[in-house]
Amino acid sequence: MSALQNRRSFLKQTGIGTAAAVAASNFALNTPVHAAGSDEIRIALVGCGGRGSGAVRDRAQVGDHYKITAVADAFEDSAKRGADSLRKDAAKEENPLAGKVDIADDSVFHGLDAYKKAMDCLKPGDQVILATPPGFRPFHYRYAVEKGLHVFMEKPVCIDAAGFRHVMETNKTAEEKNLKICVGFQVRLDVAPWIEQIHAGKIGTLLSTRIYYNAGRIWCRPREEGEEELHFQIRNWYHFPYLCGENIAEQHCHTIDLANQIHSKGDRMGHPVEANTMGGRTYKAAPEELLRQAPPFSDRKEWDKWYQEHKSAFPRHGQAWDHFFTEYTYADGSKVYSQCRHINNCWTHTLSEYVQGTSGSGTYLGYNPGKGKLVDSEGHEIWTKTGKLPKVSNQWEHDLHVKAIREDLPMHQGYAGAMSCMMAVLGREAGYSGKVIKWDDLVEKGRDYFPNGEITSWDSPAPVQPDADGFYENSVPVPGVYNPFAG
Ligand SMILES: NC(=O)c1ccc[n+]([C@@H]2O[C@H](COP(=O)([O-])OP(=O)(O)OC[C@H]3O[C@@H](n4cnc5c(N)ncnc54)[C@H](O)[C@@H]3O)[C@@H](O)[C@H]2O)c1
Repeated sequence: MSALQNRRSFLKQTGIGTAAAVAASNFALNTPVHAAGSDEIRIALVGCGGRGSGAVRDRAQVGDHYKITAVADAFEDSAKRGADSLRKDAAKEENPLAGKVDIADDSVFHGLDAYKKAMDCLKPGDQVILATPPGFRPFHYRYAVEKGLHVFMEKPVCIDAAGFRHVMETNKTAEEKNLKICVGFQVRLDVAPWIEQIHAGKIGTLLSTRIYYNAGRIWCRPREEGEEELHFQIRNWYHFPYLCGENIAEQHCHTIDLANQIHSKGDRMGHPVEANTMGGRTYKAAPEELLRQAPPFSDRKEWDKWYQEHKSAFPRHGQAWDHFFTEYTYADGSKVYSQCRHINNCWTHTLSEYVQGTSGSGTYLGYNPGKGKLVDSEGHEIWTKTGKLPKVSNQWEHDLHVKAIREDLPMHQGYAGAMSCMMAVLGREAGYSGKVIKWDDLVEKGRDYFPNGEITSWDSPAPVQPDADGFYENSVPVPGVYNPFAG
């Protein structure tokens, strides 16, 4: 990869903006899979859950010549539900999907190798949407690129060092094949103009950024009678770090991504050099009686009803922590201070960025659209974000992706996407271990969270086994004990 490619401006290499993001490609190595304006692009959806169903509909808003022809999900009922709901929408005249869905029954796949079967239905130059739990992403991404498909993949793109290395390899192949890779970091689109001002030096030399994704607890799905362990874990993927990467990766990666864009100053290979973290699992490991005193609903009756329905799952299953506070250090000495939390009844502050420079500071709060400003050291406003987004950013990212595919414009978001996700992994591993962890060490020899290789069958053993009491407390990482380089 040339220095020029490495240093392309923030907007260009992350695919953000319109004109800037789609400047003419001068580094396509070959163009075997470029779909011309009128060609039909066939689309497969892998992962028919909440985001997959949303992403495929966001893609539909682009309104070009495409057809959704295959779906895959780990579970049969989800795959069928996903296909049926797309077919139903396609039958409605006013729906953007009208006439755009042609999924035969034998193109509805389920199982842990279903992703391959769905992608096998496509030809090079077609498109796949990857929206499973992120632990699987590196494997699914690699297969998509092997098949010559353009990829829209949800964040995170990796949840461990092995996955990161894997994705970076696949990124190279994707670039060599001239495939257009879009990562679901849609928040970037909103925040990009603010970041541009910071890069332009409006607040002097960058010193630090504070970022927050402090939210309430997340869902859990009660164990079904006689349910196989792997089945339970994949349904409850957000409670198992080998599948979700922890909330620092799964959710907070949006905010970490923004911080990394700011501090990497347009280098798509930019990253911090080290991190240290404090965190733990306070709420998730607390006695149930104590938790019942802090209801997640304002109405106590509503809470009691909910609790009765969910108590078999509540809330100790899984191994995930519920809060992380990380200090990242960049090679230039600048710092990123990062908080994320999944605990109810606490201070909620999500998707918020605060930047400090030598001659000013700034804030960016929320997105779609968010509010951004920069002030000088006396507090006088020097820049304010005005105006609406051209489109909701979840849809806008698909406009840019399809434009890149149709007009053969560069889009290789896999690199910057992987860097930001690895930054989240670095923060998590620093917390689990209680040590200062160097980026280079972790990238080289960090843990592989899929100890038996990829999970491609329901017969595979679950990577984590429950304790005798059915919970997982014995395999929750403990600082000072956990070794980030083993396994
Ligand atoms: N960009 C965003 O703002 C945003 C928002 C929400 C979710 N996401 C991301 O989207 C992804 C999916 O999240 P979700 O909320 O849709 O979760 P979900 O649980 O609703 O859906 C995941 C789906 O994937 C299926 N699945 C699990 N393992 C599979 C496998 N190996 N092969 C095929 N299918 C498999 C599940 O059965 C489920 O239907 C996650 O990476 C999440 O972080 C992104």
